[in-house]
Amino acid sequence: MSRNAELVRLIRDRAGAEAPEFGLILGSGLGHLSAAVEGVAIPYADLPGFPQAGVSGHLPRLAIGRLEGRRVAVLGGRAHYYETGRADAMRPALEVLKALGCPRLILTNAAGSLRPDLPPGSLMLLSDHIAFAGTNPLIGEPSEARFVPMTDAHDPGLRHALMAAAGAAGLDLPEGVYCWFSGPSFETPAEIRAARVLGADAVGMSTVPEVILARFLGLRCAAISVITNMGAGLSDEAISHDHTKAMAPLGAAKLERVLRRFLRDSA
Ligand code: HPA
Repeated sequence: MSRNAELVRLIRDRAGAEAPEFGLILGSGLGHLSAAVEGVAIPYADLPGFPQAGVSGHLPRLAIGRLEGRRVAVLGGRAHYYETGRADAMRPALEVLKALGCPRLILTNAAGSLRPDLPPGSLMLLSDHIAFAGTNPLIGEPSEARFVPMTDAHDPGLRHALMAAAGAAGLDLPEGVYCWFSGPSFETPAEIRAARVLGADAVGMSTVPEVILARFLGLRCAAISVITNMGAGLSDEAISHDHTKAMAPLGAAKLERVLRRFLRDSA
């Protein structure tokens, strides 16, 4: 049996065979929503191919069960390109979601803002992205399916539903373009100015490879950034991973309200 088929069997043995309606990937400092899932939580350590090392601020486990009445599969942490130099580090986990029958994926991340009207603590819905890290998770993929169209990669229907959910929860959810930098060093002020000229509204070190992989696999997806800081050079505050983790809870509470409302209202 292939590794993915074995993983699907293991997960269904523990969590039941019902397909998740939504997959969720939680970013730095946003992992606690996985604890709210009524179901089972499987440590990534039990799931070969799932990200094993991890970054502090993540919760490395797959929670499967109900959240706001919906069947969800919540990945409490992700692998980043900068950890291994592999842009396809999340491919096995996304393939397993797909194999479980999950049709939709909501991604979240912590990001730096390029816009004064998006201060730390804000949420931003990704309308689109720029893959500025100079690589692609599908490099080496032999099939013709590698030529993935990326128009509307951020699914208009899901975005509309997320905006409606934010509105119903009394929260702002402005849209913007997310620019993927490889990290792990933060950007220089000159890179932040360049990203602004290129049309970006926020910068971060994740999500884009997962969106590309999700589209490759035929998952509909949308992503929300929690703004934890202004981009380098745009404010006096020092940028650090500790600062990101410290600031994430500000936006995480809002993110949780949007996601809960979104799940509750989705058919
Ligand atoms: N840059 C890149 N990634 C980030 C940032 C940032 O300023 N903040 C949180 N993640």
